[in-house]
Amino acid sequence: MSGKLWAGRFSKQLDSTVNDFNSSIRFDSRMYRQDITASIAHADMLAKCGIIEADDAKKIKKGLKSILEDLESGALSIDFTAEDIHTFVEATLTERIGEAGKKLHTARSRNDQVAVDFKLTLRDEAEEISELVTSLIEVLCKSAKKYSDTVMPGYTHLQRAQPITFGHALMAYAMMFLRDKSRLDDWRRRMNTSPLGSGALAGTTHPINREMTAKALGFSDYTHNSLDGVSDRDFAIELAGVLSIIMMHLSRFSEEIILWCSWEFKFIELDDAYATGSSMMPQKKNPDITELVRGKTGRVYGDLTTLLTMMKGLPLAYNKDMQEDKEAAFDALDTARLCLNVFIPMLETMTVNAENMRNAASKGFINATDCADYLVKKGMPFRTAYKLTGELVFYCIENNTTLEQLPLSTFRSFSELFDDGIYMAINLDECAKKRISHGGTAPESVLSQVEWVEKQIKK
Ligand code: ARG
Repeated sequence: MSGKLWAGRFSKQLDSTVNDFNSSIRFDSRMYRQDITASIAHADMLAKCGIIEADDAKKIKKGLKSILEDLESGALSIDFTAEDIHTFVEATLTERIGEAGKKLHTARSRNDQVAVDFKLTLRDEAEEISELVTSLIEVLCKSAKKYSDTVMPGYTHLQRAQPITFGHALMAYAMMFLRDKSRLDDWRRRMNTSPLGSGALAGTTHPINREMTAKALGFSDYTHNSLDGVSDRDFAIELAGVLSIIMMHLSRFSEEIILWCSWEFKFIELDDAYATGSSMMPQKKNPDITELVRGKTGRVYGDLTTLLTMMKGLPLAYNKDMQEDKEAAFDALDTARLCLNVFIPMLETMTVNAENMRNAASKGFINATDCADYLVKKGMPFRTAYKLTGELVFYCIENNTTLEQLPLSTFRSFSELFDDGIYMAINLDECAKKRISHGGTAPESVLSQVEWVEKQIKK
């Protein structure tokens, strides 16, 4: 691409290293569709407001549409020596339609142009992320229904704590991803204002109609201060924040899956298509996907930190530092998309070893709380029942046995309140089944959680 659009004020061509350094087309060409769409809306508005001739606007729109078509079909390729996508599209337009092309940039600056393009692009791509998160929630709901009564140990401090159902554990993750979805919705509501018409920083003397372009581009409003309109990147930072939280959730889940796959747990097995082997150890089946997801989480946090740090020292209004926003935001989007795309089918195809979960649940005295509750229901104060059950557990450990295996006479030697009912009270299935409080681990509770979540995602 020969000649800069700002060449008039300069007496020399830009140094070629500086040209490469300054150029953003390598990464902002990703916004070509949004750039063209926004330019069409702008040209339309200019004509409707009598700022350019209707005939020129027609030529501009036709030219822009042909550029879009040719870029999509491959008939036109991006010129990577151009400064950025905005320059490339405008120069190509003028090459194609002549003088009329030179009128497109009336009442516009690249500063409001890049802000609107970037918002449109992030809005489109965040929508894809939201759809993926919905699919993930659907998979979790489906499995949770299937395993609503599969008993496993629930942990605190990674120590066996109380019996829970596997469906309950899966729904805990569904709740996290449901919040992520609502965070994406909130984000969209807040970011959805059009900066187009802010000009370079101060607005314009031309009689533009900002409402018209905002509406045409699907924004709910336009930005109400032009300095802020061109220099706000909160929307990129917030999105990277939301994506960081999604990654944090995926990473926690990954960590859990890695544990569940180990020989120490063996609660689940990943499908062969979603696990990998070792180059030396023939027996290995590694959960690489989950480890990569856990690892890539740091990368998205890095993108968030990049954006926050990039903005923190910037005075009003546009500063070139802000060109750094795109690579960070796009990397965060690409990473989250990549991770969700492998994570969902991996979850869908994993198999559950209910027997191992059950065996693990029967060790570790995870029904001790139920034993204490049993005594409470017989009239003993909780603190006393808690202490007595602790002594019973100690007795079991000393004698290498479990609460379920103790004869009634032993129970009664600790307290006269024990009768035959104790065995039902500490039966693991019963322990899970009884926790019917809202949000609890009982199968019926899990099923109503599934129903509630399914209703939320349909909204
Ligand atoms: N490539 C630039 C960016 O991404 C576009 C805006 C350029 N504006 C300017 N005043 N140099 O930020």
